[in-house]
Amino acid sequence: MTTPQIWLAPLHGITSYTFRNTLCRHFGGIDCFMAPFLPTQSAGKFRQRVWQDIAPANNTALPLVPQLMGNRPEQFVDTVRMLNEQFGYEHFNINIGCPSSPVVRHTRGCGLMPHPDIVEQIVAEVTGKTPFHISLKMRLGLHHADEGRELLPRLNDYPLDFLVIHPRLGDDLYEGIPDLDTFAEFCQLTQHKIVYSGDIFTVEDYNRLAERFPQVAAWMLGRGLLRNPFLAEEIKGQDTGDKRERFFAFYQDFIEKLLPIRGESGTLANLKELWHYFAIFTGLSEEKLQQLLRICDLREFVSVSS
Ligand SMILES: Cc1cc2nc3c(=O)[nH]c(=O)nc-3n(C[C@H](O)[C@H](O)[C@H](O)COP(=O)(O)O)c2cc1C
Repeated sequence: MTTPQIWLAPLHGITSYTFRNTLCRHFGGIDCFMAPFLPTQSAGKFRQRVWQDIAPANNTALPLVPQLMGNRPEQFVDTVRMLNEQFGYEHFNINIGCPSSPVVRHTRGCGLMPHPDIVEQIVAEVTGKTPFHISLKMRLGLHHADEGRELLPRLNDYPLDFLVIHPRLGDDLYEGIPDLDTFAEFCQLTQHKIVYSGDIFTVEDYNRLAERFPQVAAWMLGRGLLRNPFLAEEIKGQDTGDKRERFFAFYQDFIEKLLPIRGESGTLANLKELWHYFAIFTGLSEEKLQQLLRICDLREFVSVSS
């Protein structure tokens, strides 16, 4: 059996470069990172600070695919050109899957899925006017999978690198379970390489999916890797050693690296978000988690959670 390709899913507000780098220093099994979305910009408005998360100096650990969110074809073209000039990136992913309501309301992210003409224009412009590798990350649709059914055949005309499909509707947010029957149908509708994303929480989840969908080229792990940072190693059959010791070494290292960048309150907020997932790995009860989340002092939080 060949070794699966495992990519870290982009998780906005969580998988920042500090998290990605620390994760990679402590855990194996991940082949590639996709960075959380950044906004497209017009030429001449390149603000370095916005791009800190994908600056090459901050991303030496693994190959990184930057992700862009926007809705104007010319801004995508300007942005990928700027990022290539400034940073040397040649691969870019376009987000048409983010379901958050402010994003959708502005016809961005998953808000683009009911507008196949706009998506096609974006893809036509970026693939036609630049030489770069372009891919899309999508859901089945915003309100209905018919949106994806309409879009996928149109995308077959363009030289996309791959499509990442998270088999839920935007309206579902992260509720319910991925619709694998529609995902199977979508695999038939596209000629592009497919990367699967959604609810791989255990090795068994991965095995079930890999058996049913042998055509999938790579597997994205998001929340599953936060719940169990050893998941990629386990899927690849690697020896994980003493998990608790390794997890807490990672945790300490992450805090040390994050503190100078985010300050005390930013670090505390970030850790609180992560503990919703870490609680599952460490077996923290709901009651203990709630007690932990009520702590307002970073030092106390770290001491109680370590
Ligand atoms: C907090 C959070 C932030 C996310 N941010 C992004 C993002 O920036 N770009 C993107 O394409 N998907 C984003 N996603 C979706 C994930 O990349 C992934 O497709 C989804 O969580 C399903 O995979 P999982 O079950 O392995 O987490 C986000 C999901 C969550 C929960």
